[in-house]
Amino acid sequence: MKTAKVWRLGMGDMQILPGSRHRPPMKRPIWIIVLVLFVCVFLICAYIYPPKSSSACSIFSSRRCQSTDGWLPPVHAKEYTDDEIASHVVIRDILNRQPILSKNPKIAFMFLTPGSLPFERLWDKFFQGHEGKFSVYVHASKTKPVHVSRYFVNRDIRSDQVVWGKISMVDAERRLLANALQDPDNQQFVLLSDSCVPLYKFDYIFDYLMYTNISFVDCFKDPGPHGNGRYSEHMLPEVEIKDFRKGAQWFTMKRQHAIIVMADHLYYSKFRAYCQPGVDGKNCIGDEHYLPTLFQIVDPGGIANWSVTHVDWSERKWHPKSYRAQDVTRELLKNITSIDVSVHVTSDEKREVQSWPCLWNGIQKPCYLFARKFTPGTLDNLLQLFSNYSSP
Ligand SMILES: *[C@@H]1O[C@H](CO)[C@@H](O)[C@H](O)[C@H]1NC(C)=O
Ligand SMILES: *[C@@H]1O[C@H](CO)[C@@H](O)[C@H](O)[C@H]1NC(C)=O
Ligand SMILES: *[C@@H]1O[C@H](CO)[C@@H](O)[C@H](O)[C@H]1NC(C)=O
Ligand SMILES: *[C@@H]1O[C@H](CO)[C@@H](O)[C@H](O)[C@H]1NC(C)=O
Repeated sequence: MKTAKVWRLGMGDMQILPGSRHRPPMKRPIWIIVLVLFVCVFLICAYIYPPKSSSACSIFSSRRCQSTDGWLPPVHAKEYTDDEIASHVVIRDILNRQPILSKNPKIAFMFLTPGSLPFERLWDKFFQGHEGKFSVYVHASKTKPVHVSRYFVNRDIRSDQVVWGKISMVDAERRLLANALQDPDNQQFVLLSDSCVPLYKFDYIFDYLMYTNISFVDCFKDPGPHGNGRYSEHMLPEVEIKDFRKGAQWFTMKRQHAIIVMADHLYYSKFRAYCQPGVDGKNCIGDEHYLPTLFQIVDPGGIANWSVTHVDWSERKWHPKSYRAQDVTRELLKNITSIDVSVHVTSDEKREVQSWPCLWNGIQKPCYLFARKFTPGTLDNLLQLFSNYSSP
């Protein structure tokens, strides 16, 4: 049954129950017409002589008028589907629960790679002496990696093929999260690629990630072709264009958020169906849109909106800048670690620059803990420089 119709009046909003909507209008008894006329006259009077208190309200319903703002739905109130309501209660409950604190908190380093990791020796140096405070997971999608570091041996998880741009990339991320979540000590989950390197010593990165309760998931609104241009209306009603977001793939995530990613089937299935290259005539890239959009919908205040993995897009090519051996200097690393403002540029003609300070628990700090893309030939330079990495 239809309930109430809301009329907008100059003095505020009131609710009127229209007469029976089930009868054909021709057969309406005359008294209904008289009643409607009476109500109209009353409303005009109420408009011309606005009541000082809620006297007009009290004639309709004194109980409801006490908190007009409280019960009126927003102008474009969304009606949620059963699945959305079910999904929201689960996610709300996960977010409202106090996280179970582990006595021995660890960071899960999750490597997404085609095969062997060119920087394993560098990571080995990075992890040395910090046993018990980290765990390593490797998802190798093409060839079985040859490991040279004891921290990586036997850390390969069961993997599957990954095609760039396709949802299989998101599936690999979920697989890594699921494996890493099996260890209850893992409190933070870091996604890294084979071309990623650490910018600081272990302790600095550990404290940076452990002593904050937000996830570093990159997220911004891009009205251009590489942002909203990839949105498909087939994602409605769950995913509206106003919530569609873009962000870099490389995240760090707190445990609660990793569980939410496991629990989400609703939004994931929309992206699996409608955010793939070539679907609906768009070039949607699941790993750039699914997580930013999911968190924009379920916990926008819980993410930092920038990624702690630096990448240089300044050449404005299809792929970011790749560093070669001669590029890797103290100065380069110093430049990257001194950045404390996060910058996003929209992909439309306006090329609008959105920048905000990198706030860590309210304090402006360097934005980046890791960087990519480094070619394998940079390893020796990086190993040398690593002994000199400073902790600000
Ligand atoms: C991230 O952006 C959203 C808006 O999209 C905002 O609500 C949220 O507060 C931001 N997060 C932080 C940590 O500032
Ligand atoms: C982080 O924790 C503090 C204190 O426990 C709380 O005030 C704040 O709202 C939390 N922030 C987020 C994003 O959960
Ligand atoms: C470092 O930053 C300075 C100042 O922005 C710039 O002139 C220089 O070319 C940068 N060096 C490297 C190696 O990126
Ligand atoms: C490391 O630091 C020392 C002293 O600060 C300096 O003399 C040395 O050249 C640095 N090594 C590299 C590879 O930058």
